[in-house]
Amino acid sequence: MSIKEEIKNYNVPQHIAIIMDGNGRWAKDKGLLRALGHENGVDALRKIATASAEAGIKFLTVYAFSSENWKRPRTEVNALMSLLVSSLKKELKTLMDNDIRLNAIGNTSNLPARCFRELKEVMRKTAANKHMVLTLALSYGSKEEIVKATTEIAQKVKEGTVDLEDINEEFFEKHLYTSDMPHPDLLIRTSGEYRISNYLLWQIAYSELYFVDKLWPDFNEEDLYEAISDYQKRERRFGKISEQLNP
Ligand code: FPP
Repeated sequence: MSIKEEIKNYNVPQHIAIIMDGNGRWAKDKGLLRALGHENGVDALRKIATASAEAGIKFLTVYAFSSENWKRPRTEVNALMSLLVSSLKKELKTLMDNDIRLNAIGNTSNLPARCFRELKEVMRKTAANKHMVLTLALSYGSKEEIVKATTEIAQKVKEGTVDLEDINEEFFEKHLYTSDMPHPDLLIRTSGEYRISNYLLWQIAYSELYFVDKLWPDFNEEDLYEAISDYQKRERRFGKISEQLNP
């Protein structure tokens, strides 16, 4: 049986999060402009999103642009924003063909107006799709997300609509961008870096971490299946001991 068939049979992760790192180095290695690395990154994302949906993943959340990425040279930020608009237009068909709903997390109102408009448009057009949710983390930073949630809750306490005793983990999570999705089961980072880079810090508390040396534009379906297969061999104890899980 192929690895593609094998992974479908047992304990498929419900939610995979990916830090798509290495587009710049991929381009540099080939003597190309960084923007071309990002363009090839979109091709990789299309392949991985399609393969994920086919494998039965219900949520795929990818780090497309961090709050810190605004500090990159203006030319690169502009290139990424233009790529976002053209990719959204171009990939609507891929999303519809694969029954994928597009979602976004992050401070998306910071995006240039044309990006924000196109994003909302594709989210609206794919809203009824059921097979998988593809979430783009755009202008996303986890620490900012946590501060935003805290401020919202503090405001409610101040107004008297929430009591201090009502604040617990479940309540807090309702104020995160990810309130309508389960926590990631598996977090993948490409390019051989061993960092989380301010991505989903709250949500990955018990996620399995998987690091791979390949640069994002080279990451393909087989690499995804390998990551899922590795995940399936792990025992997630959530703080318990092995005997409690397998009495
Ligand atoms: C990291 O590579 C990648 C990004 C900052 C952007 C990821 C974006 C895509 C895959 C394209 C889809 C998203 C949009 C917004 C169109 P890097 O540039 O940090 O690579 P490096 O570490 O090798 O320099």
